[in-house]
Amino acid sequence: SENGYDLWLRYKKVANNSLLQAYRQQLNSILASGNSPTMDIVRKELQTGLNGLLATTVAQRTTPQPGTLIAGTPQNEPLLRNAAITGQLKKAGNEGFIITTTTINNIPTTVIAANTDIGVLYGTFHLLRLLQTEQPITKLNIVSAPRIRLRMLNHWDNLDRTVERGYAGFSIWNWHTLPDYIDPRYIDYARANASIGINATVLTNVNANATVLTKPYLEKVKALADVFRPYGIRVFLTARFSAPMETGGLKTADPLDPAVQQWWQQKVKEIYQYIPDFGGFLVKANSEGQPGPQDYHRTHADGANMLADAVAPFKGIVIWRAFVYSHTNPLDRHTQAYDEFTPLDGEFRKNVMLQVKNGPIDFMPREPFHPLFGAMPKTPLMMEFQVTQEYLGQATNLVYLAPLFKEVLESNTGNDYTVAQVIDGTARHDSLTGIAGVANIGNDINWCGHPFAQANWYALGRLAWDHELSSASIANEWLRMTFTNNQHFVDTAAAMMLQSRDIYVQFTNPLGLHHIMGTGHHYGPAPWVNDQRRPEWNPVYYHKADSIGVGFDRTTTGSNALAQYQPKARQQWEDLQTCPDAYLLWFHHVPWNYKMRSGRSLWNELCYQYYTGAARTAALQQTWNKLQAYVDQQRFHEVAMLLGIEHKEAIWWRNACLLYFQTFSRQPIPARYEQPS
Ligand code: GCU
Repeated sequence: SENGYDLWLRYKKVANNSLLQAYRQQLNSILASGNSPTMDIVRKELQTGLNGLLATTVAQRTTPQPGTLIAGTPQNEPLLRNAAITGQLKKAGNEGFIITTTTINNIPTTVIAANTDIGVLYGTFHLLRLLQTEQPITKLNIVSAPRIRLRMLNHWDNLDRTVERGYAGFSIWNWHTLPDYIDPRYIDYARANASIGINATVLTNVNANATVLTKPYLEKVKALADVFRPYGIRVFLTARFSAPMETGGLKTADPLDPAVQQWWQQKVKEIYQYIPDFGGFLVKANSEGQPGPQDYHRTHADGANMLADAVAPFKGIVIWRAFVYSHTNPLDRHTQAYDEFTPLDGEFRKNVMLQVKNGPIDFMPREPFHPLFGAMPKTPLMMEFQVTQEYLGQATNLVYLAPLFKEVLESNTGNDYTVAQVIDGTARHDSLTGIAGVANIGNDINWCGHPFAQANWYALGRLAWDHELSSASIANEWLRMTFTNNQHFVDTAAAMMLQSRDIYVQFTNPLGLHHIMGTGHHYGPAPWVNDQRRPEWNPVYYHKADSIGVGFDRTTTGSNALAQYQPKARQQWEDLQTCPDAYLLWFHHVPWNYKMRSGRSLWNELCYQYYTGAARTAALQQTWNKLQAYVDQQRFHEVAMLLGIEHKEAIWWRNACLLYFQTFSRQPIPARYEQPS
């Protein structure tokens, strides 16, 4: 059945018959002789992939013939030790690969070559993708290497298998049956990640307790690390800062206390005995009530460096999160991370990275990029995106996130380089580089809840490998692999995906509104909530609607958060007259009768946006219904029902928000926007 379990690795027979014949001829056998667990996976993947796609049995050979696919490294395959190949491999680095149509000993072949076995595996998935997406392969000359070193998933999974902000079932890590039972799903997980270049995973929630650092759990972690290793995936764990007290019996977790330092050094040694290639720690400290170095009047750098020193002898790293805020900074939560971290630039050890969320608030449907990306030139900054759709309709809404990721990556920091150039290290010559995505994976049959949510996992991996890929090309290849190569289907569904995030913004948080969703669960509208105990959790704190207007003044007359951006970046936002509509209410408190670029008053524009957004969800339903003939019925109906939910919710958002804001604007909703729905 088409239940979505296979993700984008379905390997169905190529539908285009002339291409099928050509592929069969050009790839009639496999020669991959390298001897390692990774090369075993290469052979198996080529066999499963080619046998499925070409509906044939592809022979394994030890000497090449016309039409043999040769896969390997110059070390493990003597046939690849020729100057043309080794020359090209200089550009492939440790994880990259080349795929070329060439002759070896005068025999026409296709070659996948790399400097390492894992590079060969990445090349294998790339070649299979060309077939899955029905690309010509007669004159291949591909060199591909990742632009970013750490391409990582962050699981917010708890040991009881609940997933914080997870909408696709329970955690796929079955701690109860580990380490002795290896769920085949762990292997499928690793394979799916390898197919898109993801090479690191944090198994535990940033809010986790210290239990995972105890011996019985380290044995379980080791079992997972052993499964992932041949797929090129390194395991990381979250480290709760107070672990020395909770599991070590110490009286303090002060990072400058020698007993605490020693406890961590011992713990790290123990971890590396189980997992020799352990990646390191991800730490959430002094944020949302989590313990941290500030509890002892130490800095984030003191805390990070203490852990960094412990992992350094093993080449481990520490990823310290910049997501910090507290209720003691009630003026503007926007400014806290920058204020806490910029004074520490240059004070972190070389094996520390600072992981910064894409925006300064919290994964809102649209945020300006985080001002830290334009600062801290001496600290490697890692991007944290959210793949799970906490604030983007969770798993019931079709929201394709590549346009959100790209919007952030392409933003100019104001220093004449983009956020992407900070993240990939080219702007500042960082040697540690990384992108993390908070995973949307759970034990639902289809992994991600919404069939289209798989595209967000896919896009995260593809953009981490190459952030210059376009949202459209990623949507296109994902659709072809996941559904069908039918051109009409692909064009139509890609258009749906490419507008989906804009539609979501329009019916929930148009014009720069943000954080007006239900508090706690973060689902659906609740702009009216006003709980005095935690002002920075309340929608009213963010929209600031009153009889004059709506929006958060972050200019010099307000919180002045804009001052944290480089002058060239803040220029685009600071003047109400020139600020783009998309960020207007993010940075300005705007009168209800303010005349917008459209010619409408702000109030009428708000009505227009909410009504248009909701109407566009109805259009998504109609478009999808016309695609029924092109997709299997199981996934067709699943998506159709989910689009129905999204449409209902759009009306809920529209009505709730407009009726609430109307109590301030005291103006009617223009009749012409009220389409029947
Ligand atoms: C959001 C999310 C929390 C999470 C936090 C974080 O606020 O709602 O569940 O713990 O981000 O990133 O640490």
